[in-house]
Amino acid sequence: MIIFLVGFMGSGKSTVGQRLARRLGYTFIDMDARLEEEHGMTINEIFKKHGENAFREMESRLLHELVALRDIVVSTGGGLPCSGNNMELINQKGISIYLKMGPATLLNRLSRGKSRRPLIRHLSRAELDIFIHDKLREREPVYLRAHHTVNGLNVDMEKLTELL
Ligand code: S3P
Repeated sequence: MIIFLVGFMGSGKSTVGQRLARRLGYTFIDMDARLEEEHGMTINEIFKKHGENAFREMESRLLHELVALRDIVVSTGGGLPCSGNNMELINQKGISIYLKMGPATLLNRLSRGKSRRPLIRHLSRAELDIFIHDKLREREPVYLRAHHTVNGLNVDMEKLTELL
């Protein structure tokens, strides 16, 4: 089985993914970390050197590789489900979970975690607030196509495991 965690930047996909993988005895894969390893560059550097479109191709290519694996929990990048037919592929090949978080919580969390995220690193708090509202409105319909939607705050691991 493959479990995909989807959701906005800062919604806790990596933390929850690691805990879930440990519970299930599955391998945890963080797509951003995997791309950084493969390319020997940080996500910031990939965006700077190759641009966003190239990054989207890299993450889509990685997704196609991962769907051939078994017994993994995958933490996806926040934009991955929204390009091409990635969300369809995720839902076909695995079980998807949307970690839902409201804009106010995301703003607080992302204000602290901006620097390693190229799309938001140069934004002031006010600009970040607008960005989150706009992007969430654009992306949430895609995230909501996940098989399960759970509240990203205080995730109950017991309940989450029961969904699977
Ligand atoms: C992105 C989210 C990031 C990373 C890149 C772009 C996005 O991943 O893939 O900075 O477009 O939302 P996280 O969701 O893990 O922060």
